[in-house]
Amino acid sequence: MKRDELIKLVKNMTLYEKVSQLLQITADFYSEYAEERTGPLSDMGITEDDLYGVGSVLGISGASESIRIQKEYLKKNRLKIPLLFMADIIHGYRTIFPIPLALGCTWDTNSIEEMARISAKEAAVSGIHVTFSPMVDLVHDPRWGRVMESTGEDPLLNSVLSKAFVRGYQSDNLKDNIYSIASCVKHFAAYGAVSGGRDYNSVDLSELKLREQYLSGYSSAIQEGAKLVMTSFNTVNGIPSTGNKWLLKKILREDLKFNGTIISDWGAVKELIPHGVAASKRDAAKLAINAGVDIEMMTTCYKENLEKLIKEGEIEESLVDESVLRILELKNDLGLFENPNRGANEDLEKNIVLSKQHRDIAKKISQQSIVLLKNESVLPLSSKELVAVIGPGAHSLDILGAWSWKGKSNEAVSLVEGMKKISDRLLITKFNQSYFELSDEELNESLSLAKKADKVVLALGEESWMSGEAASRSNICLPPAQVELFNKIKEVNPNIIVTLYNGRPLDLNSIGEAKGIVEAWFPGTEGGNALAEILFGIYNPSGKLSMSFPDSVGQVPIYYNCENTGRPYEVNPQEKYVSKYLDISNYAKYPFGYGLSYCKFTYSNLRINNPVLKSNEKVIVSVDVCNESSRCGVEIVQLYIRDKVGEVVRPIKELKDFKKIYLEKWENRTVSFELNEQMLRYVHSDMTYSSDEGEFVVMVGSNSQDYLEIEFLLDK
Ligand code: NOJ
Repeated sequence: MKRDELIKLVKNMTLYEKVSQLLQITADFYSEYAEERTGPLSDMGITEDDLYGVGSVLGISGASESIRIQKEYLKKNRLKIPLLFMADIIHGYRTIFPIPLALGCTWDTNSIEEMARISAKEAAVSGIHVTFSPMVDLVHDPRWGRVMESTGEDPLLNSVLSKAFVRGYQSDNLKDNIYSIASCVKHFAAYGAVSGGRDYNSVDLSELKLREQYLSGYSSAIQEGAKLVMTSFNTVNGIPSTGNKWLLKKILREDLKFNGTIISDWGAVKELIPHGVAASKRDAAKLAINAGVDIEMMTTCYKENLEKLIKEGEIEESLVDESVLRILELKNDLGLFENPNRGANEDLEKNIVLSKQHRDIAKKISQQSIVLLKNESVLPLSSKELVAVIGPGAHSLDILGAWSWKGKSNEAVSLVEGMKKISDRLLITKFNQSYFELSDEELNESLSLAKKADKVVLALGEESWMSGEAASRSNICLPPAQVELFNKIKEVNPNIIVTLYNGRPLDLNSIGEAKGIVEAWFPGTEGGNALAEILFGIYNPSGKLSMSFPDSVGQVPIYYNCENTGRPYEVNPQEKYVSKYLDISNYAKYPFGYGLSYCKFTYSNLRINNPVLKSNEKVIVSVDVCNESSRCGVEIVQLYIRDKVGEVVRPIKELKDFKKIYLEKWENRTVSFELNEQMLRYVHSDMTYSSDEGEFVVMVGSNSQDYLEIEFLLDK
């Protein structure tokens, strides 16, 4: 349809029909079973008639179900406006890929685009039109369970990866490519900065930091064409996002130039009441519609109040018209008016969902996301060695992560299953050990296996419910039963390789004496195969942390791109009056960008082709990277800068570019980066974006703490 036809359609709608379009409810309202309908229907005051005016539905899946519902809906909808189906396809539909924090550790835009394309295809054939992804909230606090949904702590990495998600989901032709789906970027804004790492908590953040660091992920997704934005549950500087006019109108619409649909998070409009900025559902509706929220997810403030508010002259009907038009445009962009069932297709669903091809790609991406944190010559394993495989993660199929709605753990591959495909010299625990308790029987068996073995693979971590939404932890250590197991095993066999399944950076001091540590995150359906191939060196690890691991929870929030203080610790660590703790270090245990390989990569000869950079010109920074080993591997070469003197304090380092390179054994390669004036711009105190003339340090290395450095001058 053309835009003027959509405008005409809005004009033909009654106020009731328009307000109905702004409501989103869950799929169970449309269930065929009457008893399921009565519960939620009666609780939310939704009548049978209302169902056929509602604009969108959350959580429908399955081609036949979506086709059935759409058919029934269109039969009863007066103007034949199709129903829109949305869902949380976060890191895969049924083929589950690693959690987003792990995807961040791939630093690989192609892989993320590929995972999003596959997720979109599986979802689209199952009847879904929109995904609530990517979540691009920048994160600094591993106590917050939702760090698992983010790609990490860095604005640049988040920004390039968020674009890759959107490209993968939406393709370059959303309308005609019925196997693509629309992308909803979330949670706008700054949800990752919740105070104390406690979910749903307040966010108090300077506008400077908001603009410079936190907006980058959202703004890049928008530039890439993301069709929707979801508001966040939190306040931003005293005003909940869902009723925050400045945030949604000034920042999102005006500055970031977003002209798509804004949807509230689940219940967030009504939550304006407990937040304490609205006294009633009527007030909440007024605040949210004035702020620019188009769709209200799962509460009925709009439904119950917008008509009255308009009739009583408290809000303009044009506000509702604009929201409805945006929703109809989204439906039109998806081609739903012409093709209301879009990609839904039962045959394809059977053939492609969880296909061998999708599983193979999931394995490849899991491998790229796994980070080797420590290796004192214990890895890779050889299939000649006798290896004990014990610990709660050994047989665990709880490896999909908290946002794997349609993923089934019984379709996942455990570590033991993966290892058995490679070696027959394994001593495998017969127990499905708990992550929280250790029986005498389990301990005794573990000790006896460990004693006999050359090396021990001890699989530890978190269960998936321990991260994700509403899963903040104040203590980010491993549970005591796991530490006890580690300590006892260490006494009989010190050659311990700890593998970890978890959704956040952890405090790993309790297993500090492990000779090897492999961070596998929640690696998805093919996790056990991916991890096993890394342990045996069939795949050479290449993942690099996208979020720092603190040395202690007391350092949190900890992130590499912090500001210098007036009393920097590094200048004189012995001095009392410097910025430090009395009892713990200032440094991350494993910093942003860190990750080992079975190769040894060395960096040398950092150089710049011109020590002075002029506007409209560029300089080339080059470094030689050598693979000093007899196996090939992948290295992620990272370039950071530091603006030595700025109008506002600049971070001690900022990632500005990176290159993922493949090196043959013993290969020495020159890697070059271009730097230009635009890359040196930042947000000034008056919120304008520009660069300062003067000296810059450029650092190139294998992570945010190990690098070579050189200086240049910006002379515009
Ligand atoms: C609440 C979560 O915050 C959000 O990320 C999700 O997309 C919605 N629920 C819908 O399930």
